[in-house]
Amino acid sequence: MAAFVVIVVLFWGLCIFCTALLRWNELKYRKKGLPPGTMGWPVFGETTEFLRQGPSFMKTQRSRFGSFFKSHILGCPTIVSMDPELNRYILVNEAKGLVPGYPQSMLDILGKCNIAAVHGSAHKYMRGALLSLISPTMIKDQLLPKIDDFMRCHLSNWDDKIIDIQQKTKEMAFLSSLRQIASSEASSISQEFMPEFFKLVLGTLSLPINLPNTNYHRGFQARKNITSLLRKLLEDRRASTENQQDMLGILLGEENKYKLSDDEMIDLIITILYSGYETVSTTSMMAIKYLHDHPKVLEELRKEHMAIREKKKPEDPIYYEDYKSMRFTRAVIYETSRLATIVNGVLRKTTRDMDINGYVIPKGWRIYVYTREVNYDPHLYPDPFTFNPWRWLEKGLDNQHHFLIFGGGTRQCPGKELGLAEISTFLHYFVTKYKWEEVGGDKLMEFPRVEARNGFRIRVSNQ
Ligand code: HEM
Repeated sequence: MAAFVVIVVLFWGLCIFCTALLRWNELKYRKKGLPPGTMGWPVFGETTEFLRQGPSFMKTQRSRFGSFFKSHILGCPTIVSMDPELNRYILVNEAKGLVPGYPQSMLDILGKCNIAAVHGSAHKYMRGALLSLISPTMIKDQLLPKIDDFMRCHLSNWDDKIIDIQQKTKEMAFLSSLRQIASSEASSISQEFMPEFFKLVLGTLSLPINLPNTNYHRGFQARKNITSLLRKLLEDRRASTENQQDMLGILLGEENKYKLSDDEMIDLIITILYSGYETVSTTSMMAIKYLHDHPKVLEELRKEHMAIREKKKPEDPIYYEDYKSMRFTRAVIYETSRLATIVNGVLRKTTRDMDINGYVIPKGWRIYVYTREVNYDPHLYPDPFTFNPWRWLEKGLDNQHHFLIFGGGTRQCPGKELGLAEISTFLHYFVTKYKWEEVGGDKLMEFPRVEARNGFRIRVSNQ
């Protein structure tokens, strides 16, 4: 009996303590002018609910507090914005003090000259340097031929095999970019480079605790190894008299108007590899999944690609005009990005106290421009949970200002066309060569990242 009383007292004591702690934390943030919302536990905030419940946590909070609310997630006091007009406002107003707000681990590992870490004129310059490497003319004359050549090789010999399409698309995204950056060295350095790059990626998504055996520590080590590999590459290129037609060749070329230091070049190369890696690979994997589940869409897509192939000899590559003519393919990629929500949103940070939407957002707070829900808005996308690429053809492929899968404003994705060209070329060779079926049993995680924890296996055979 006494033990029972002790347990009851302890239980109630704990309840009262927890309630007091939560209340104290709410009071701490009850500054005049902040949007409504809850802040959860001291230090941890509402991170557990956010990660565990994902999109439904966001929807619950929106139904309680509206489309602009406060929370405390991933270690920071954060404003979540789910209002399309406000989201646009936030994305176009970097000059007023709304700069990228990515986690410290990401900035540390990607380098201090990384595009997300620089603002104002430094950002303009780095972005200009990047755009000069991936402009439509560059895609047409230099990058697409490399992508084509790479895809043919990467997709050869898959016949009669069970492959993990998640792993294959990850390797594809990395190796294809490496070939565009350093075409002649790519094959000799890729074995050493690729595992380091995968460690770097894991490090950017980890807690910034620099202890041995943590992903952050491994990511940092990987950055060091990658940096010395790239430094050596730059040295060799400078010593060589050959003029290479690839991104390094342009960066080091006399006629390039963007003069970058070695540190800047290295961070830019890491940016290119990193930014196009998960986005391109996950979209490609999910396209394969949706095409498998929707035979009518696959049939239409195949028709588009067979028509291109029929006009060519087997060894002829995909030209820029072919890529531009792939309207249905583009619709498939957009519909895949929408339905799978490859990008849930983007992060910003206030550099001073700011008035937004009638509230005062303190300096240093994160703003999560959460765009996921727009993808499932039935007014914008009737029958939103159906995979229907035709909807994009009806509405005009690139005239949809609410579609923020490539971001918006000053930081809008500069690699959009390059990414689309890579995925389109991959789909071209895949659907014209192969048919496939899922092996089954592989689970896909939808949030916070689209991922198959144990891989995504398909059985591939020749068409
Ligand atoms: C399907 C493919 C892709 C998707 C869905 C995608 C998505 C995005 C999004 C949403 C942003 C905005 C980030 C923000 O506002 O903070 C962004 C920025 C960026 N993307 Fe992409 N991206 C893709 C492919 C690529 C590729 C292939 C590259 C390679 C060069 C690339 C390079 C970048 C860079 C450098 C930025 C930062 C731009 C800046 O801060 O000015 N992306 N991307």
